[in-house]
This record gives sequence, C-alpha cells and structure tokens, in this order.
Amino acid sequence: MASHQLNRTAFGDPKNAGNLMPIEEAHALLNEWVPNERLRLHMKQVAAVMKAWAIEKENADEQTALKWELAGLLHDADWEKFPDDHCRIIIEELEKRNIDPDVIHCIASHGPGYFGVEPVNTMDKMLYAFDELSGFVHAAALIRPTRYEGLEVKSVLKRLKTPSFAAQVNRNDIQDAISRIDQSLEDIILFIIDHQKDVS
Ligand SMILES: [Fe+2]
Repeated sequence: MASHQLNRTAFGDPKNAGNLMPIEEAHALLNEWVPNERLRLHMKQVAAVMKAWAIEKENADEQTALKWELAGLLHDADWEKFPDDHCRIIIEELEKRNIDPDVIHCIASHGPGYFGVEPVNTMDKMLYAFDELSGFVHAAALIRPTRYEGLEVKSVLKRLKTPSFAAQVNRNDIQDAISRIDQSLEDIILFIIDHQKDVS
C-alpha cells in the first residue's frame, strides 16, 4: 500500500473560516464519489454520531453542528476511488471548494498513524475516536439477529478483546484515540450504539 502520509501541517485557508457546504451538497458528493453503499453507510453513521455529539455534549449551534457533521460525512469520501491517495484527494477537493479549514484539518487528522497529522481540537479527536469504533460497533450489531436492538456495551467490549473479530480494526488505534479524550471507551461505545442505530 502506498504511503498515506500527507507531509503537510496546514490545511485550507483561514479566510474560509465559517464557510461550509449545505449537507445536501455533501451527500451529493458522497453519492458521486462512493458507489459502495456499505461504505456510504459508514460515513453517514459517523456523521450522525459527530453531529449528535456536537449538539448534546459540546453545546454546538447549528453551524458548528454542521461542521462536525460534514467532517464525519466526508472523512473517507475518496477512499473507494483513490485508495492509494486517501485522504489527500478529498482534502484538495475541499480546499478547492473553499471549505472551512477546521473541517479539512479534522479530516486530515482522523488517522494520525497513517496521515501523519495530529488531532488538535475536540472535533478532530472525536472524529478519530468515532471512526474505527463506529465501524466496529456496526460489525458487532450485524452478527446479531436483532442487530442494534438489545446490543450492550459489554458485548462490544468482549468482541474488542477477540482479535479474530473484525480483525481489520486496529485495536491500538482505538486505544490511542480514546487516550486522547476525556471519555471512557464504554461511554463512547454507548453513545455510538444510541446514535447510529437508526441511520440508513
Ligand atoms: Fe472512516
């Protein structure tokens, strides 16, 4: 696999602060760039969790909540078509569209071990934490007959301790992401279960 290191530290133009795109436009971009429905669902789930966290935990206003939602929705937008250049392509696209640098930095730092960009603010850190865990929780729901209904945090925790389950999910990344925030792994898993279960 090609190196995903971005070798950059600055993203976007500060004069674009506050410049977002309507959520419908982000969905249109996603539909065009990501034909794979399962991958699109992952991004929609992360977006829903990010938006909910901003509103419920960070007291965000509508604009700020949209910022969180956009970062979640677009963080893997280039993954399917440009796997070797993920996430450079979506970053450049958002820079071309003059999007708020906070959104772009958030996307650039969602995998510090891969992209070489450290999460700085709470939005950055929460995207990193939600990203791998959201997919993991979804995998844990999918193997149950009732899916999300009755899914408990402790059963997700048990799966995390089973290396063969969703083996592609890097447990060290999860631990690293959680260590950067002032939240427990249990609380984050519960929040994800509650807020992504109805996303389709
Ligand atoms: Fe992701």
